[in-house]
Amino acid sequence: MRIYLETMGCQMNRLDSELLTGVLRAAGHEMVADPRQAEVLLYNTCSVRQHAEDKVHSRLGPDLRRKADSHRPILVGVLGCMAQRLGSLLPARYTGLDLVAGPGQLAHIPAMIAQAAAGKPAFALDGADCAEDFDAIDLARDASFAPQRSQAFVRITRGCNKRCAYCVVPAVRGPEVSRRPEHIVEEVRRLIDAGRSQITLLGQTVNSYRWAEAGRTVRFSDLLAMVSGVPGLRRLRFVTSHPIDFGDDVLAAMRDLPNVCPYIHLPAQSGSDAVLKRMDRRYTRSQYDELVDRCRRIVPGVVLAGDFIVGFPGETDADQAASAELIRHSAYKNCFVFKYSPREGTAAAQMPDDVSPTVKRQRNHELLAVQREVGLAHHAGYVGRELEVLTEGPSRRVDKQARLPQPGRMQLVGRTVGDHIVVFDGPIDLAGQYVRVRITGATSLTLFGQRCDD
Ligand code: SAH
Ligand code: SF4
Ligand code: F3S
Repeated sequence: MRIYLETMGCQMNRLDSELLTGVLRAAGHEMVADPRQAEVLLYNTCSVRQHAEDKVHSRLGPDLRRKADSHRPILVGVLGCMAQRLGSLLPARYTGLDLVAGPGQLAHIPAMIAQAAAGKPAFALDGADCAEDFDAIDLARDASFAPQRSQAFVRITRGCNKRCAYCVVPAVRGPEVSRRPEHIVEEVRRLIDAGRSQITLLGQTVNSYRWAEAGRTVRFSDLLAMVSGVPGLRRLRFVTSHPIDFGDDVLAAMRDLPNVCPYIHLPAQSGSDAVLKRMDRRYTRSQYDELVDRCRRIVPGVVLAGDFIVGFPGETDADQAASAELIRHSAYKNCFVFKYSPREGTAAAQMPDDVSPTVKRQRNHELLAVQREVGLAHHAGYVGRELEVLTEGPSRRVDKQARLPQPGRMQLVGRTVGDHIVVFDGPIDLAGQYVRVRITGATSLTLFGQRCDD
């Protein structure tokens, strides 16, 4: 069948969609980019904020109306975190919905589609046994297929054992399970053999990775060492790290293993002790500051990125000022700032959502403005330097391309080891290649430069 699959969540969801695409193609289905051409519409959904769920609701109504009006059969399915969170509420609300599947059900989707096509709606949520399936689908991955030519994601853990008061992820993704290290190395080896040179290890809190068996314990730093030794792996990245569990062993591994990129996405969420405590983040402001200092001391040139939530219950102007100050102290390359969204069933949902939408919006703008300053100073520090860039492809800033002089050349975009975005001119066939770029300009989010051998 012709299948349209749209992904709405985080990097983990995108990897799920990539793996699912492989599974569907192996089952003989064809993926299409235009929903109007599709016989099956699938949404791989996110529940982290209400906004993410609203987007799915806004699609399902029209899709199901179209299905009812259409002469040819269309199947509509909701997969992933929102399916897991809402479960049977979805088919109850949407008559005609054909398929509802939790994030651990990827391997079963072809059978579910077949069942739905035979007229029987298919419904499968993740249960306690889900961990057994996990890993099998990663190992069965078709390494030759990937959305990006030179880079791939590999998951090392599933689920999360932290209980941040605001967060729905542990409820929808289940408890944390680590994959066997040899399986991870094997998957990386296959991806490298298939032409990838950059691997990003993925987990909700990668640094709590731990594999213990028969007297042997593999920590995250040990895993980094194992994976970094795969021949042909030029860049090894990982996301996301939790500020606790971030031992010197990980920082030493980053310093000593030449292909491990000096980039850490280290969400702080707030700069205020009172808010951190209510969020149950398990560290204080001074512990976070100390960690940032330690990262900078041990890993030369380390680049940091952050996440913040504004408008958490009870957040005051003084708390907000503390977050702004933390952004300055951390000197992040970039920062994601989210407006607090109460999630049913979480601890924070019991607290009054007492910061008004207007104040949330103001605080969001305020932190982003501080980050723009900090980001500009950070990026400006690279002007005049020569950096290695992994070329991704044409830059989306097509506006400038009209002014380019030679045919066959265009504005390209790539990333440095520190995850900086670099825009430069060159031939399109550089995509997937490493080039050296001299940096000539900077904005708060982007570096601009010229290829050294140009
Ligand atoms: N496991 C990762 C990512 C979690 S979700 C981590 O721990 O960093 C990504 C980000 O969404 C979080 O870092 C947090 O900043 C934000 N987030 C999570 N729950 C939220 C909520 N209820 N409202 C607003 N933002 C939220
Ligand atoms: Fe959510 Fe916290 Fe787990 Fe991240 S560490 S997924 S924010 S509970
Ligand atoms: Fe990711 Fe959203 Fe699920 S952030 S883990 S897709 S709730």
